[in-house]
Amino acid sequence: MNSAAIGLDRLEHSQVCDADAELVIPGDGENGFPMCWYAVCKSSDVPDGLIFETPFLGGNVVVWRSTRGRLNVQTAYCAHMGANLANGRIVGETIECGFHHWCYDTGGKCVYIPSTDNIPAKARLFSYPTVETQGLIWAFNGAEPDLDIPLPLTVDNIDDYWIAVQDDVHEMQLPHYAQMLNIVDFQHFQYVHDMAMTDGFPPKDAVLTIDDHSFGFSYKWGEVDTHWRMTGTSILNITFEGPGALFELVNLMATTPIPGGRHKVYGVGFKRKRADTPEDRARADAEWVATKPMEDATFKQDEDVMRDWHLRARNLVPADVWQRRMLEFIRDYPRADPAEGYQ
Ligand code: FES
Ligand SMILES: [Fe+2]
Repeated sequence: MNSAAIGLDRLEHSQVCDADAELVIPGDGENGFPMCWYAVCKSSDVPDGLIFETPFLGGNVVVWRSTRGRLNVQTAYCAHMGANLANGRIVGETIECGFHHWCYDTGGKCVYIPSTDNIPAKARLFSYPTVETQGLIWAFNGAEPDLDIPLPLTVDNIDDYWIAVQDDVHEMQLPHYAQMLNIVDFQHFQYVHDMAMTDGFPPKDAVLTIDDHSFGFSYKWGEVDTHWRMTGTSILNITFEGPGALFELVNLMATTPIPGGRHKVYGVGFKRKRADTPEDRARADAEWVATKPMEDATFKQDEDVMRDWHLRARNLVPADVWQRRMLEFIRDYPRADPAEGYQ
């Protein structure tokens, strides 16, 4: 893997300031979507026996657990005449279409048609590679994942942490990566969130680290060590370590394209266990309740300024140098649309 920590002195400002060169990033759905893991829904959305339907990337998917517990994320429309499989039911290890009772296995293959033994070779759904972790159900946009869903930064063992998935899932009329772009937009921390950025844009001691699948940076913000990492173009891990409970923060944000140029945003919080007891879980819950108004207010500030954002990247100036780097990373990320033709 190609990995590099890059100091600001190595960034060429002349490359940033080419006012005529607009950086063109494919929109969500143009040439497919970046080949990475996306949050499809919360684990709690899919109890046993229920077929959960949700918009995902360019279409709709059904999410269901087979009788033996195998989790599935599959294109939602029957290969016969296109009925929505959410109107069907789970039968053992298959999902049965409500219309003519064709049944599909966990790999998406049609394995039963009541009216014939001759099952058409193309009678299948697209089955996304699927993982359930950190309170969410994830699907990889491709035939085979070439990366794992990362643990939160600075976390070695997830079992040492309490996890809280936020109830509210936000939606915005923007490409999914707009959320990620925000984290390298140090100017907006000052002007939108009213945080003093005394070390410049970007801060002079911040260190950027880029490899094939991730784009992150570390920065000591006053007393607080902050670490930020985007994996693929859709997973953001943030860790703040510093004095006071407010600054012990381990968060995950996952953004997922959905049809119509929109995206969804999932939030997950992690808190280190002091003991594996209900009392300690209650302590963690109380801390989340205490910091939620501040997190909501920050998100609202972003939402207000991002409304009707015609996202483009031209006339970039030196303060935009990291945004440019991130946009180039997103532009160059491999893309695919393995579910094309199944919707
Ligand atoms: S439309 Fe699904 S079985 Fe006919
Ligand atoms: Fe923001």
